[in-house]
Amino acid sequence: MTIRPSARLSALPGYPLAEIPTIKRRLIEAGMDVIDLGAGDNDTPPPAPVVAALRDALGNPALSKYGFQQGLPAFRKACSAYLERRFGQRFDPFTETLPLIGSKEGLAHLPYAVTNPGDVIVFPEPGYQAYIGGAILSGAEPMVYPLRADERFLLELDRLPDAVLRRTRLVYVNYPNNPTAAIAPLEYLERIVAVCRKYDILLAYDNAYCDLTYDGYVAPSIFEIPGARDVAVEFFSLSKSFSMTGWRLGWAAGRAELISALTRVKSYVDTGPFLALQRAGVVALDRAEELVAPIRQALAGRRDAAVAALRTAGFEVESPKAAMYLWVPLPAGVPSAPFTRRVLEEHGVVTLPGSSFGPAGEGYFRIALTVSPERLTEAVGRIGKALEAVQEADVAAGT
Ligand SMILES: Cc1ncc(COP(=O)(O)O)c(C=O)c1O
Repeated sequence: MTIRPSARLSALPGYPLAEIPTIKRRLIEAGMDVIDLGAGDNDTPPPAPVVAALRDALGNPALSKYGFQQGLPAFRKACSAYLERRFGQRFDPFTETLPLIGSKEGLAHLPYAVTNPGDVIVFPEPGYQAYIGGAILSGAEPMVYPLRADERFLLELDRLPDAVLRRTRLVYVNYPNNPTAAIAPLEYLERIVAVCRKYDILLAYDNAYCDLTYDGYVAPSIFEIPGARDVAVEFFSLSKSFSMTGWRLGWAAGRAELISALTRVKSYVDTGPFLALQRAGVVALDRAEELVAPIRQALAGRRDAAVAALRTAGFEVESPKAAMYLWVPLPAGVPSAPFTRRVLEEHGVVTLPGSSFGPAGEGYFRIALTVSPERLTEAVGRIGKALEAVQEADVAAGT
């Protein structure tokens, strides 16, 4: 039988991280010292009490059973308690929260619950790939909103034509943002909630980085905006805040009807996160303030080191107040994909070209703050050498 990819599969753009592991392995086998600043996968360990809780949980056979969508009641209660402590928002643990196998899973499954083929789904570009993936695979019509530096990388929904907004059922919004590290002022959130209410659009607020904030900045929940509960569902992740990327644990919060719709989709495609993980997740969430602090502090030190090194190397980069990325502008006329390819192949540093986040990401590359300040400084020094080489080649070519 000939396996033909479905039209929806064929419509997916290339995944930015897909090629990197193979190239990286080849370079390491050839003896190169590779520094990986590609995926947002911090090298700090998960908090020791969370690891200990998982170890204990593995000794309890009841936690090796199917979790189903209900999951571990204590985990839902911990999600709900965190939302109340952190944002002053009360959500019923059993009807208004839902455990996810990482927030990516919930973000990508959401369109199956709330859109029909042909409905428009708006998402930011550059942006996290789960949005376009969910939009295309569910048969909806994807609509890119290009984020721009002169709009502070904010997705200004009401700039889209009225006719498009009338057909739009879902918009993905993500602040603190990957990859630009932009943050959303409250007046912006009020504005986008108002547009969603006006046009009856569901706002999927991706808050994966809400606890990775610096310089005294505190990221809000969308639910802090009056009226947001009518139109929003919010996604949270334990991956980044607790260095638990591979564990696959997140959750969604929102109105009971929405949570129940997403639950129904998930009932047909998965059986919920591993219960032992949910038990460990309770420890993480209950002690979030204490356990995230060292990770946040480590990331702030990395940010400072990388920003200083980038500026020394001639890059004009801002010091972000949140997330774990630097979104670095390239000098005019330096395309991002060949540049990052050169940085990897010749200097052994993995970064992501802006263009891999969609055409609107061109002109930038992304650095993830995944290694120590010393390694970041070393990596940026190598990136600077690559930039010098490109610029010298341009001068030699008279361009
Ligand atoms: C903006 C954004 N949302 C969601 C996720 C997914 O996180 P999780 O590990 O919870 O699936 C990521 C991961 O990189 C991300 O950058």
